[in-house]
Amino acid sequence: MKLRGRGKTKRTLHLNGELRNGILIRSCHGIAEFEACVLVERNVWQSADVDVVPIPLFVVAAETGGQVIGAFHGKELVGFTMAIAGWRDRKPFLHSHMTAVLSAYWDRGIGRRLKRFQRDDALSRGIHLIEWTFDPLITKNAYFNFMRLGAIARRYLPNAYGITTSPLHAGLPTDRLVAEWHLRSARVLRVLAGKRATPAFSKKAARITIPASLEELKATDPAAAAKIQSELRAQFQHWLGKGYAATAVAPGKSGVDYILEPWKSL
Ligand SMILES: CC(C)(COP(=O)(O)OP(=O)(O)OC[C@H]1O[C@@H](n2cnc3c(N)ncnc32)[C@H](O)[C@@H]1OP(=O)(O)O)[C@@H](O)C(=O)NCCC(=O)NCCS
Repeated sequence: MKLRGRGKTKRTLHLNGELRNGILIRSCHGIAEFEACVLVERNVWQSADVDVVPIPLFVVAAETGGQVIGAFHGKELVGFTMAIAGWRDRKPFLHSHMTAVLSAYWDRGIGRRLKRFQRDDALSRGIHLIEWTFDPLITKNAYFNFMRLGAIARRYLPNAYGITTSPLHAGLPTDRLVAEWHLRSARVLRVLAGKRATPAFSKKAARITIPASLEELKATDPAAAAKIQSELRAQFQHWLGKGYAATAVAPGKSGVDYILEPWKSL
């Protein structure tokens, strides 16, 4: 990989792989490593075959300007992120279709390291935007995206992928927020430096509460969970339709609150 200017050697080495706490983050190559990604995918999502993203798509992603990046513990692949090259507003961008870490390795910063490596690789190729979709009901992912990466969300896709076989989706419509990660934005730079994205929320900020009971309801009363999902969908569509962006999550009185702010005032 050719990189101009100062720091060439450091950066090249960095993109070849980053070893910390026994976990190496680097690009994946070859069928055996893509197969290992599919094993992690199966383990995390537990979908039926019809919903599994197969090896050839990993090959396509890696060969057409996208990314397949792995987290390795010794020889074992314990996480990966996969992105496809896209085109948005006349510029190249990456659509990060899947990011997964084996649950035994959660909450050790591996997901964040995968995303940071993804960002460095994108920037080294002149790409300044990465997007992905996430389930607004899974507040851990919202926390990860907004508070740990500095992404924002301005679009809501009702039932984006249809109803899937993954138990993670609990038979609900696959409603998704689109995370936009503007890689060089002041917000992202602040968050990656360990600071708060914004010193204070806008005075006009709106809140949408994901009830704490929802995770349990998904398992015990799917109809009630679906009803709550459709109420939340209406709220998100209302505020995003008014030009607001979801920018943060915070503990609320009865669950986790999304914070939405008028995008133009930010
Ligand atoms: C999303 C995912 C990739 C994150 O991986 P990870 O290695 O656990 O990520 P990190 O450790 O870097 O960060 C997770 C953060 O969430 C926090 N967290 C954990 N559980 C949480 C919860 N229930 N609510 C809020 N935050 C939570 C962790 O404490 C950590 O934050 P911290 O660094 O401030 O402590 C992983 O959870 C995963 O594979 N999930 C299943 C697949 C999925 O949903 N993928 C994303 C959509 S494609």
